[in-house]
Amino acid sequence: MANDAVCPKCEGTGFIIIERGGISGAEPCDCRAQGRTERLQDRSQIPPLYRNASFDNFVVPGIENPSARRELTTALLAVKNFVRDFKDEKRPGLLLIGNTGTGKTHLAVAALRQIIDKGFEGLFYNYQNLLNSIKAGYDASSNSANREAYQSALDAEVLLLDDLGAHRATDWVEDTVNSIITYRCDNRKPLLATTNMPDADAGSAVVHKSGLDKPEYRRTLAEQIGGRARSRLFEMCTVVRMPLVEDYRVRKGKQF
Ligand SMILES: Nc1ncnc2c1ncn2[C@@H]1O[C@H](COP(=O)(O)OP(=O)(O)O)[C@@H](O)[C@H]1O
Ligand SMILES: [Mg+2]
Ligand SMILES: [Zn+2]
Repeated sequence: MANDAVCPKCEGTGFIIIERGGISGAEPCDCRAQGRTERLQDRSQIPPLYRNASFDNFVVPGIENPSARRELTTALLAVKNFVRDFKDEKRPGLLLIGNTGTGKTHLAVAALRQIIDKGFEGLFYNYQNLLNSIKAGYDASSNSANREAYQSALDAEVLLLDDLGAHRATDWVEDTVNSIITYRCDNRKPLLATTNMPDADAGSAVVHKSGLDKPEYRRTLAEQIGGRARSRLFEMCTVVRMPLVEDYRVRKGKQF
């Protein structure tokens, strides 16, 4: 690894000697921070597909689609501002709500990566995988990652929970999610979350027509994770509603 190479500035000691007003003293070398950021990025468990997601490679629609362009730019700006002001003690969380393919995970990861660059410890968890791990962890023969999953979701300095609500809602799921969110909210521990569950307060339609005469009822965020968890989430988070833009993968296919 690159950071195993001996730093020429401090010759690997991690300190440089600086003279100020005739007095010399040791100060931490920049290479410490760099090594730390790399280690933190490595440990964040961000999935490979999103490892390079950033604000810079987040594409907004062109001028031929002014309203989508404006709305997605506004969402991007809100996330950037959240990172700029991080960590806001009153509202340490970020919640991205919107349809599949609108770039929620991309933006949430971009935010997490910048927060890690600021020196915080960030941890990515897919909601469904986290619940599966916690469940598997009850079994004593399970691996240690599963047994520690619940604790690490509580302890992570900054947690990204991706695709919140995308799991069969049971009492156990509701209790588990509720305790993670409540703990993090009570302790003002930052939580970034994405969801494509409709939420009335965020302006999503709850009832969708599918087919000709069959009204389809999409479960809401509150129904999937429980009303208590939902209200704590809204209390601690800056809520960013993604506009109704076309799925990025479709959009990209059309453009190139
Ligand atoms: N505006 C965008 N600019 C660049 N890439 C994007 C954009 N929106 C989505 N993507 C990419 O498209 C894929 C799907 O986006 P994703 O963030 O997973 O959507 P969502 O989480 O809303 O379902 C990802 O590979 C993501 O990096
Ligand atoms: Mg996603
Ligand atoms: Zn150094």
